[in-house]
Amino acid sequence: METLDQAKKMAGERAADFVENGMVVGLGTGSTAMWAIHRLGARVQEGLNIRAIGTSRQTEELAREVHIPLVTFAEVKELDLAIDGADEVARDLSLIKGGGGALLREKLVASSARRFLVIVDQTKRVRHLGQFPLPVEVVPFGWELTQSRIEKKGCRAKLRMKKDHKETYMTDNGNYILDCDFNEILDPSSLHRDLKALPGVVETGLFIDMVYAVIESDGIDVSIEYNNPYAE
Ligand code: 5RP
Repeated sequence: METLDQAKKMAGERAADFVENGMVVGLGTGSTAMWAIHRLGARVQEGLNIRAIGTSRQTEELAREVHIPLVTFAEVKELDLAIDGADEVARDLSLIKGGGGALLREKLVASSARRFLVIVDQTKRVRHLGQFPLPVEVVPFGWELTQSRIEKKGCRAKLRMKKDHKETYMTDNGNYILDCDFNEILDPSSLHRDLKALPGVVETGLFIDMVYAVIESDGIDVSIEYNNPYAE
């Protein structure tokens, strides 16, 4: 296994150790979250009793495959723990997410969890957010107008396409994604506020003040950084 995959696996599997019997767990999307889901599936086979909410159709499918019981927000209002990857993690533990297109559901799930655990390999750590183009979910109607309004905030906003580059990528919620290249985001909170104020913007991939802990691996070791060790 490549070192990067090994790092994702180690971070994901370590996160699964945080899950306790009876918990309701948010399951993230992506190649790191996948390892946590597989490990949780194995623990369910061993008798762990949990319920989960997935952050994408892809994740729901994987959860079903590994026999993790799924619930919806009609049944639960608060999650004990959410586990998810990230595209960038800044020093203050603000994040860019949405590389996999699931940012809206990911933010709903993370914001309803008492603890949000972020799992990354060491390549995701940055000094300032913004090298990774910020995913912004927008409604399809008038997306070109929304795009030009977003670009006035200081970026180039590119409409995400499917892998074949022919069709527009569509989120699980029926929206488009604009990948916004800001290069450096020095004030994530105000940028998030400005973008959210635009009609047509559904959600941004900026996750600010949400993280309980970051579990990071380089493929050899795993480290855990708590956001506020006194917060319970
Ligand atoms: C999906 C996400 C992912 O968590 C993010 O893209 C990281 O993915 P990976 O673990 O595959 O590197 O935000 O919308």
